[in-house]
Amino acid sequence: MTDKPANAPSDHQDGANQMWGGRFAAGPDAIMEAINASIGFDQRMASQDIAGSRAHAAMLGTTGILNDKDVEVIRKGLLTVLSEIEGGTFRFSTALEDIHMNVEARLKEIIGEPAGRLHTGRSRNDQVATDFKLWVRDQFDAAEGALVSLIHALLEQAETGADWVMPGFTHLQTAQPVTWGHHMMAYVEMFGRDLNRVRDARARMNESPLGAAALAGTSFPIDRDVTAKALGFDRPSANSLDAVSDRDFALDFLSTASICAMHLSRFAEELVIWSSAQFRFVTLSDRFSTGSSIMPQKKNPDAAELIRAKVGRIFGANTALMMVMKGLPLAYSKDMQEDKEQVFDAADNWMLALAAMDGMVRDMSANRESLAAAAGSGFSTATDLADWLVRVLGLPFRDAHHITGSLVAMAEAAGCDLPDLTLDQMKSVHSDITADVFDVLSVENSVASRTSYGGTAPAQVRAQIARWQEMLT
Ligand code: ARG
Repeated sequence: MTDKPANAPSDHQDGANQMWGGRFAAGPDAIMEAINASIGFDQRMASQDIAGSRAHAAMLGTTGILNDKDVEVIRKGLLTVLSEIEGGTFRFSTALEDIHMNVEARLKEIIGEPAGRLHTGRSRNDQVATDFKLWVRDQFDAAEGALVSLIHALLEQAETGADWVMPGFTHLQTAQPVTWGHHMMAYVEMFGRDLNRVRDARARMNESPLGAAALAGTSFPIDRDVTAKALGFDRPSANSLDAVSDRDFALDFLSTASICAMHLSRFAEELVIWSSAQFRFVTLSDRFSTGSSIMPQKKNPDAAELIRAKVGRIFGANTALMMVMKGLPLAYSKDMQEDKEQVFDAADNWMLALAAMDGMVRDMSANRESLAAAAGSGFSTATDLADWLVRVLGLPFRDAHHITGSLVAMAEAAGCDLPDLTLDQMKSVHSDITADVFDVLSVENSVASRTSYGGTAPAQVRAQIARWQEMLT
């Protein structure tokens, strides 16, 4: 396909538009043509446009609205147009405004008079809604595949390190030890919800606008069930005004993409932090890193940084389309032509971000030793100590919390960690403490003890991995 900017000068046609110029004495001003044309971007819907026209033409035949000969000529002509577009020989014209009129005009050049019958019982309003829905539906399907793949990549990471200890954070301060597998599985939950949102939205949008015509339906005896079925829709949409003016499917797409991009961004942020020399929790592969032109030691997590940034433009697209739609009276208004560039850009960048994250996750290696070393620092088992005081000595939790706080302060002053304190030092704070307490101060025992449903104990993590593997098969 030629990628001609929407505001490029007109190729031909000096006079009125051949599609709707009947009542016009003069052609449009060049600026009018530039602001009006969408062919620069909506040519991306060419195959959807031809699929929609083929379904419409076939239905016009089965209902007897067109004769079989015309329908066959139209069918063959549309296939020729499609092959020209796919082969890159099609000449897109800005004067013909959009993909719908470009295709129809070329069809007329190829087959002549029957081309003019194709538009019977439809309008560009239901046509564009149909094409765009088909395009967005393909993107939902692509997103579904990409999310399933990413979840599998995370499950592999989780399996490898189901019992590798690492610090868990709140406020980015060491909180309690968790396992690498548990941390990976948190993202599996997030991307799993994104997957559900994709599937929900796809199911919700799968109604055909085709046959709603301009806004009111048509007096021709069309069969909307036939075209809906031919295009893989579950049913025709039930209100023609809504059918031509609904862009909820695009907003569902953008909001689903926004939430998912936000998840990708949070994970990307962690990868940026974790791959730093200060953390060394993960090593990103050379394939997903870049170097510095001046600092030879640098290996930068650019893919993660760019994924983190993508949420900005995707969320921007969502906001932009909400703003475009919010003031529009029923039914179609030309404002709605602004839907496509937002969705195209968001879709391209969402898919790219998903693919980049997938590749990074598959290639990265977690550094078990660094994770373990960090897991044991920062008094990460203080809660385990407090819990022990409650469980073994029968103290109220608030008292246990206070005693543990004193022991943390003691260790901090001594420049050591909790397990490095002597029993005598412990007893100086509470005389009933026994040597058994040291068992709960190891990070391995700490994570192993978190066996509540959804907790970080390796057995729980492995159960969740198995549950997801089962669900995804
Ligand atoms: N290019 C238009 C769009 O993207 C197609 C529909 C035009 N309909 C109309 N009544 N002018 O929305």
